[in-house]
Amino acid sequence: MNTSTDVFAKRDFVNPQGQQQLPADFQLLLIGGGFSGKRLAAEVKRRGGKVLVTHRQQQADGPHLLFNSETGEQPPLSALMGTTHLLSTAAPEASGSDPCLRCLGPVLQQLPLRWAGYLSSTGVYGDAKGGWVDEQSDPFEPLQTRSAARLACEQAWQVQSWPTQIFRLPGIYGPGRNPIALLNRGLGKMVHKPGQVFGRIHVDDIVGAVLHCLLMGEQNQVTQKLPGIVNVVDDLPAPSSNTWSYAAHLLGCCLPDYLSYADIEAELSPMAKSFWQENRRVSNKLLKLELGYQLKYPTYREGLMACFKEEGFSFQG
Ligand SMILES: NC(=O)c1ccc[n+]([C@@H]2O[C@H](COP(=O)([O-])OP(=O)(O)OC[C@H]3O[C@@H](n4cnc5c(N)ncnc54)[C@H](OP(=O)(O)O)[C@@H]3O)[C@@H](O)[C@H]2O)c1
Repeated sequence: MNTSTDVFAKRDFVNPQGQQQLPADFQLLLIGGGFSGKRLAAEVKRRGGKVLVTHRQQQADGPHLLFNSETGEQPPLSALMGTTHLLSTAAPEASGSDPCLRCLGPVLQQLPLRWAGYLSSTGVYGDAKGGWVDEQSDPFEPLQTRSAARLACEQAWQVQSWPTQIFRLPGIYGPGRNPIALLNRGLGKMVHKPGQVFGRIHVDDIVGAVLHCLLMGEQNQVTQKLPGIVNVVDDLPAPSSNTWSYAAHLLGCCLPDYLSYADIEAELSPMAKSFWQENRRVSNKLLKLELGYQLKYPTYREGLMACFKEEGFSFQG
């Protein structure tokens, strides 16, 4: 990890308000226009950049490029010409391989790429038993199978020939993916496990942080290597019961039923259980203090309030 004070000193070159326009020749190939990808594509366009978005199937709001590592369908090189930047949002395949590198690797080598980004997961740190971890922390073994695959995908990205940055993400929330609408439909469950916290990030801070880092790479003044791994997490690891409570506060509704984790553990799916079996606090010091990114939503409170407004809810009474 590059923690040199030089990077810190250069941060003034990047507009902290995130209004910076993208270079005239900028073309982003975005692997996956899902929850994060869709928001990123919109912001790239807003900042005057060109973006090519892939989906596994044709979408109603096309046109998109079709890319599906499972069927082998992929765009021809001619459709990708002029791509200067690449971001992959696709999770590892069932086999553990990275879908983008496995299928598109040879094609990507023929593009004039100046930067690549990969959305990863803070699951690669494993269970820190509530302790803090940062980008230099070794994983706590044993890792979940999916996190071991994630780490292998990260390693595959790290050895590519382009400058590459890996963004480690905690639970992603935003409009359409948060407790407010669920609670409004009476579907909330407030599960509590003593001492357990979760990290989270609002989708717009993923967008903001990715563009911030990408633009730092574009600055002529920044000559040193950018950090290869960056945690993109908010300031406040917190129990999920806190977010349910705050959602109830915003809606002015009753709190959902309180359930003790110990009482419901047996009913959970293996996947749901696996999230509760890891407890860590992930540091964002590198992103904020060294790279100078200002979180739009430092905690779930600002983030849920923004979701509440964007989803058209209003305060009652
Ligand atoms: N959800 C979380 O809380 C969380 C937390 C930490 C990390 N992450 C990771 O962060 C990344 C972004 O998350 P997200 O919630 O924005 O993801 P998402 O909504 O699931 O979007 C993933 C995108 O990747 C595409 N994709 C997936 N597998 C593919 C394959 N085999 N071949 C081609 N395209 C493929 C999908 O295509 P379609 O559009 O056709 O579906 C989709 O557009 C993901 O890798 C996710 O696993 C998520």
